Amino acid sequence: MTGKRGRHWRSVCKGLVLGTLLTSCTILVYCLSTPQINFSLPEVPVPYSCAHRPSQLHPKPTANTSLRSAGQTCAPKVDIMFMKTHKTASSTFLNILFRFGEKHRLKFAFPDSRNDFFYPSLFQRSQVKDYRPGMCFNIICNHMRFNAPEVAKLLPSDTSYITILRDPAELFESSFHYFGRLIPFTWKIPGDDKLTEFLLDPKLYFDPEGFNSFYLKNLLFFDFGQDNTLQLDDPRVDEAIGFITQRFQLVMLVEYFEESLILLKDALCWEMDDLLFFKLNARSRSTVSKLTPELRARALEWNAIDWKLYRHVNQTFWKKVDVYGSQRMARDVAELRRRNKEMASICIEGGHAVEAASIQETAMQPWQPIGEKSILGYNLKKNVNKAHRKLCRKMLIPEIQYLTELGVNLWLTKLWSHVRDIFNWW
Ligand SMILES: *[C@@H]1O[C@H](CO)[C@@H](O)[C@H](O)[C@H]1NC(C)=O
Ligand SMILES: *[C@@H]1O[C@H](CO)[C@@H](O)[C@H](O)[C@H]1NC(C)=O
Ligand SMILES: *[C@@H]1O[C@H](CO)[C@@H](O)[C@H](O)[C@H]1NC(C)=O
Repeated sequence: MTGKRGRHWRSVCKGLVLGTLLTSCTILVYCLSTPQINFSLPEVPVPYSCAHRPSQLHPKPTANTSLRSAGQTCAPKVDIMFMKTHKTASSTFLNILFRFGEKHRLKFAFPDSRNDFFYPSLFQRSQVKDYRPGMCFNIICNHMRFNAPEVAKLLPSDTSYITILRDPAELFESSFHYFGRLIPFTWKIPGDDKLTEFLLDPKLYFDPEGFNSFYLKNLLFFDFGQDNTLQLDDPRVDEAIGFITQRFQLVMLVEYFEESLILLKDALCWEMDDLLFFKLNARSRSTVSKLTPELRARALEWNAIDWKLYRHVNQTFWKKVDVYGSQRMARDVAELRRRNKEMASICIEGGHAVEAASIQETAMQPWQPIGEKSILGYNLKKNVNKAHRKLCRKMLIPEIQYLTELGVNLWLTKLWSHVRDIFNWW
C-alpha cells in the first residue's frame, strides 16, 4: 500500500520536474530561434518562375483518357506553395515534393536552422534561408503559420497553392498524443486516459492563453493563420473559410490520399511516377486510441471550426472527383496502389514499416514524440537493384534526414532532439 503510494508520488514528482525542465528547454529553443529584429524588407516584384524546365522542352503528349483535347500538351507546374498542416500525413507528401523538386532541379524556400518557419509565429519572408528581395523560388513546403501576403511576396503570382486536411476528430487525437506533453495545462489532467478526461470537460482544462494551447483547439484553422478560439457563429469564421477555399486551388484529404494525389496530378500536369509514395511518419497501431462515437462527437464539437472547414472542403473535393470522372478516378487510384505495392516489394525489407527498435540504419530513424518510440520507420532492402537503389532510398528516408541532404542546416532541431533523447533515456 505505502509502496504503491510512494511510487505514485515518485512518478508525480518525476513528472513535475520533467515537465518544468521540458518547458524551460522549449522556451529557450523558441527564444533562441525567433528572430528578434523586425526586418523591413523592400518591396521588389517577385520574378517569374526560376525553374530550369527540362520538361517544357519535351512536353509530354496528354494521354487520350484525359479530358484535355487530344494533341494538346501541358508542362508540369513547378511553382508550388504547400501549406503543411500538422498531423495530416504531410510528411509523406513532403517526400513526394522533395523528389519532384530534385527531378526538375527546383529551388526550395527552406527555413534556416530548424525544420519549420518559426512556427507558431506567422510566416515572414525574412525567415527563408538566404532570402533577399527579388530572389526567385519554386516551392515552399515546410511547416509555417500561413500568412498569405508574405507568401505572395515570395513566390510567382501563378503559384499553385495546395494543402491537406484531415478529419478533425482524428487530428485532435493525434495532436493530443504527439504534443500533449508539451502543453503545460495537460499536466494537471488526472488519470491515465487524459484524452477522455479532457474531452469530458474541455473548458475545465483548456487555457487559451496557455503555452502551446493551439495544438488542442482548431489546430487546422490556427495553421492557416486564423484565430482558433473564435466562436463558431463569429462572421470571421465563414470569411476565413471562404478565403482558404479560394486561395488554395487543391485541398487534399488524408482520408482519400490517393484520390487527392490523382487530382493533384491532373491539376499540375504531373506524371504517375511523381506520385509514388510510402507512408512516412505513421504511428504504430497500438498507440492510436480509437475514439468512441461519443468521444468523437465531443472532439468535433470542441474543434467545431475545423469541422466546419473540413465539411466545406469535403464537398468541393467530391465535386472535383465527379468532374474528373468517378470511374476514371477508381482506375487511376488502383493503378497508383499497384505501383506503390510494387515499389514496396522492391525497396522495403519485409515489405512493411517496423518499430523504431527494429530499424537498423540510424539514417532511417524517424523523429519520435517526446518520451515515446511510437513512430514507425523502414529498413531499406540490402540488395536493391541498381536501377532502383536511389529512388528507394529517397522514398524511405525520414523528413529531417532528407532536409539535411537537401542542404538545410538544422542545428536547432538537432539540439532539441538531443534534449529529448536525454528525457527519453531518463
Ligand atoms: C514589424 O514591422 C512592420 C512594418 O514595418 C509593422 O507593421 C509590424 O507591426 C512590426 N512588427 C513588430 C513585431 O514589431
Ligand atoms: C489516341 O487516340 C487516337 C485517335 O483518337 C489514336 O490513334 C491513338 O492511338 C490514341 N493514343 C493512345 C496512346 O491511346
Ligand atoms: C463528404 O462528402 C461525401 C460526398 O458528398 C459525403 O458522402 C460524406 O458524407 C462527406 N463527409 C463529411 C465528413 O462531410
